[in-house]
Amino acid sequence: MKASKTPRESQVDDYVYKIFPNDLNSQGTAFGGTITALLDRIALVVAERHSNKVCVTVSIDAVHFLSAAKKGDNLIIKAKINRAWTSSMEIGLRVSAENAFSGEIKHILSAYFTFVALDESGKPTKVPLLTPETTDEMRRYEEADHRRSRRIKASKEQEEFRKSFRAC
Ligand SMILES: CC(C)(COP(=O)(O)OP(=O)(O)OC[C@H]1O[C@@H](n2cnc3c(N)ncnc32)[C@H](O)[C@@H]1OP(=O)(O)O)[C@@H](O)C(=O)NCCC(=O)NCCS
Repeated sequence: MKASKTPRESQVDDYVYKIFPNDLNSQGTAFGGTITALLDRIALVVAERHSNKVCVTVSIDAVHFLSAAKKGDNLIIKAKINRAWTSSMEIGLRVSAENAFSGEIKHILSAYFTFVALDESGKPTKVPLLTPETTDEMRRYEEADHRRSRRIKASKEQEEFRKSFRAC
């Protein structure tokens, strides 16, 4: 296993997905669940390329639908690893919707997915560290640590909350 890798080695650039009628909600715009499932798969590819291990999704956060995608739009998805810790990795995704006829491009969604790499027995296992190269990658690398602290704090608080209910 390499000790460290760059974001470039695992990134997915401009994955294109055409919105067809079976991707729509009852409002006639792209169904959020379809987009989220697609992002989970693309982020998984990044996590598995970085770790060279089987990975599972442990957390999805900051999924903000900023604008609606419509029938016939092309979704353009970029996915990149922001940081790797011991067994976990944060993957950032950005989705734009392109109107193929007018050429208009809208930013419709950004999200962070956290994956954990597993060994043969299904236990968390070490992943290569990340070496950011560009200024943007360095900024995302620093920000990712703050988000990780928030996620772990929120997850612990949730667990305490559940326990307090069970104790009642
Ligand atoms: C992912 C899983 C194996 C982790 O097991 P665990 O016993 O919590 O393991 P640990 O406590 O050692 O945590 C492992 C890593 O996950 C991270 N983690 C755990 N819960 C997290 C959360 N809510 N958010 C972000 N990271 C989290 C830990 O910080 C740790 O990261 P590190 O090794 O880089 O420091 C386990 O929670 C699991 O199997 N979850 C279900 C996964 C799944 O089915 N996903 C959907 C289908 S893919």
